Amino acid sequence: MKQNIYDNPLFFEKYISLRNSGVTYNDFVEQPAMKSVIPTLHGKLVLDLGCGAGHLARYCIENGASRVIGVDISKNMIEQANKENKHEKINYIRMPIEDLELPDYKFDLIISSLAVHYLEDYPTLVEKVSKLLNKGGVFLFSTEHPMVTARREKNNWIKDTEGNRLYYAVDHYQEEGKREEHWYVNGVIKYHRTVSTLLNTLINNGLILEKIIEPQSIPAGLEIMPKLIHEARKPSFMIIKASKT
Ligand SMILES: C[S@@+](CC[C@H](N)C(=O)[O-])C[C@H]1O[C@@H](n2cnc3c(N)ncnc32)[C@H](O)[C@@H]1O
Repeated sequence: MKQNIYDNPLFFEKYISLRNSGVTYNDFVEQPAMKSVIPTLHGKLVLDLGCGAGHLARYCIENGASRVIGVDISKNMIEQANKENKHEKINYIRMPIEDLELPDYKFDLIISSLAVHYLEDYPTLVEKVSKLLNKGGVFLFSTEHPMVTARREKNNWIKDTEGNRLYYAVDHYQEEGKREEHWYVNGVIKYHRTVSTLLNTLINNGLILEKIIEPQSIPAGLEIMPKLIHEARKPSFMIIKASKT
């Protein structure tokens, strides 16, 4: 099932307001880690899956990419991208990643920031990515860490009576599949996969693992968002970089 939660008006308003605050897990944890392993962009053709408001697409162009195609299921997000990050070298396409067919293209880099956990069928995604990559091309994506997606009940930090965090609960780890959570609205659907599935599916599709990152906050983040210290106890994200030989 394809969910388009970013076109829910309340969710969209809250999400955009969070991202525009500049004080987020994206700013201090996920994006710095992704950018630390983006290959040289000069002259590269890039596909951004789940491009959202186009920040990463814009970053790729500003760092030398020759063209970026950004794909997103959400009308709101594509409109936002065209408002905030329009560029003559970027094409934003409103379409579910699952339906994407680009038979005339081969990309040097396929990038995806925090969209893969919304997709039900990971093997088909990776097969598609592998076909769309040039030889030597790179697939770089971030996803919610399997430690975070595993447990069916949320509120995973177990606290004492004074609200101090005792430990982080992980459960149902080997039960892959759909998870539902409240994030601004009820019924936000994500998909849990084990680390072995995330990695072995890439290997099974002929990709070579280049780098895995379980990022912590950059120092500036710890000053502005002290709660990011807990990323040292439990990572929120996993960044995976693989290449096609
Ligand atoms: C957390 S946001 C990240 C946006 C952007 N990559 C960024 O880092 O700012 C996830 C994005 O994935 C998109 N998305 C979710 N499921 C999708 C699907 N099946 N096909 C295309 N885009 C999808 C959402 O609409 C949303 O824009």
